[in-house]
Amino acid sequence: MKKNIGATLALYPCPVIVVGAMVDSKPTWTLVAHAGTVAHSHLMISLVKSHYVNQGIRENKKLSVNIVDESWLKAADRMGIISGNKTDKSNEFSYSIGENGAPIIDDAKVSIECEADGNYELENFDNFICKILATYADESVLNEKGKIDYNIFKPVLFEFPTYEYFVTGKKVGNCAKMNG
Ligand SMILES: Cc1cc2nc3c(=O)[nH]c(=O)nc-3n(C[C@H](O)[C@H](O)[C@H](O)COP(=O)(O)O)c2cc1C
Repeated sequence: MKKNIGATLALYPCPVIVVGAMVDSKPTWTLVAHAGTVAHSHLMISLVKSHYVNQGIRENKKLSVNIVDESWLKAADRMGIISGNKTDKSNEFSYSIGENGAPIIDDAKVSIECEADGNYELENFDNFICKILATYADESVLNEKGKIDYNIFKPVLFEFPTYEYFVTGKKVGNCAKMNG
């Protein structure tokens, strides 16, 4: 029998990302798990208003979404426990500037460059609506058709209720081909 455990964040685990933006011409990085797809063209990134990175997104509109894998999880995790409000994070990662001006983490095998063209403010969160401008993928995670192969690329998933990290697992089916 199912038990109502209250209004919890049960739509987890979800990929964990490091959001990058420029503040005062320097990059800053923030670990984020409240993120998702809205329409085929946009992502939504949900950030507590007082976070330092929000300043850069509000001012420059440009941001990067760097998908975390296990190879750089420890460095990514650090971006969730220190704040640019107190600590300069500009030297935490080797980075490049994307075609649209957002800082992109070199260690990330998949990074998405976005432009924030909306903000659905809710409670104490900026929910930035982010148009996808470009996707940078390391050739090592691409298949022969040039698509990201998730048998090779294993994003780290974050699980909110217990604060644990997982990685994506084995393939269990072919979409839309399982019913005859
Ligand atoms: C696993 C994990 C996931 C997090 N997800 C979010 C999130 O989705 N939104 C958010 O506002 N903060 C999130 N945080 C908290 C911020 O990463 C953290 O407060 C950070 O220090 C803010 O940095 P900033 O002030 O430099 O932007 C998360 C932290 C951890 C450890």
